[in-house]
Amino acid sequence: MNPILLDCDTGVDDAAAIAYALGLEADLVACTTVAGNIHIDLTTGNTLKVLSLLGAEDVPVFRGASRPLVQPFQDASHVHGGNGLGGAEIGEALAAESDLTAPEAIIAYAEEFDGELTLVATGPLTNIAIALSLRPGIAQQVRKLVLMGGSFFNPGNVTPYAEFNIWADPDAATQVFAADWNEILAIGLDVTHQVAITKKMWELIPDDAEGAVGMMKAISERTFVTRVRSGFFLHDPLAMAVALDESLVTLTPYAVDVVVDGEERGRTVVSDGGNVLVATAVDATGFLQRFCAALGIPYIDDVDGISAAE
Ligand code: RIB
Ligand code: CA
Repeated sequence: MNPILLDCDTGVDDAAAIAYALGLEADLVACTTVAGNIHIDLTTGNTLKVLSLLGAEDVPVFRGASRPLVQPFQDASHVHGGNGLGGAEIGEALAAESDLTAPEAIIAYAEEFDGELTLVATGPLTNIAIALSLRPGIAQQVRKLVLMGGSFFNPGNVTPYAEFNIWADPDAATQVFAADWNEILAIGLDVTHQVAITKKMWELIPDDAEGAVGMMKAISERTFVTRVRSGFFLHDPLAMAVALDESLVTLTPYAVDVVVDGEERGRTVVSDGGNVLVATAVDATGFLQRFCAALGIPYIDDVDGISAAE
């Protein structure tokens, strides 16, 4: 048993992370949603739609924070499109959101799967911080927290200093990195900027593809055609993949501090002597082959096609 709760701000790569987990038949027991890439109404609706498209409408979805703890809400719709799914229409939700709020659900699932639950966080850490505030013991009650966030030794993607999930709610990130987790892994841009679906790979997907691969074709068109990018970065799928198999990355323990305001807001600063396992290297080819196999995407070795220009 390896129950996973995904806290997400579905967005295009969050959608890909859900598809990867379901493609591997991982034990995705619940999703909680947070404002981030796009408004909470859309991150919640998108999560319901993606689960329905992939035949997993039975996975409960719990709505969470509509804004960061302190900072004003600012989205990333320039990246993810106005609807958060690259403008793609992927069908309607076949289920409604559940009644509990996201922090309540995180606490309830931590209790239900006492010691066994893996939390995967692929959005701003607002819900995780609120759950910790309500029930500090969840840090020890979950098996581990794997978060996509930070840029520990490389430039950011929102500013030269900061990665979006941390920048969006730096106060929540501060509280999460400071908690005494059973195990906490941070998957930052240092490794996620090495893994992407390139345009060459995208072009190999048939236009009439359906299911997960059809969803990938549709939600990444904006990246390649409208934004003329070389790569659709697999930030969130890599975090999900590491939650399922830590051997994909090299992990080094650090203490992590976060700059909460000013020009360097969202910067993640490492120092020795902490418990945060920061991913410092990745088996990029091994992950890309697994991701493509799980979603039915033709894999080619096109690592040279990847640039960090988001
Ligand atoms: O910086 C990338 C992260 O920010 C990803 O999780 C993406 O979905 C956005 O939330
Ligand atoms: Ca995300």
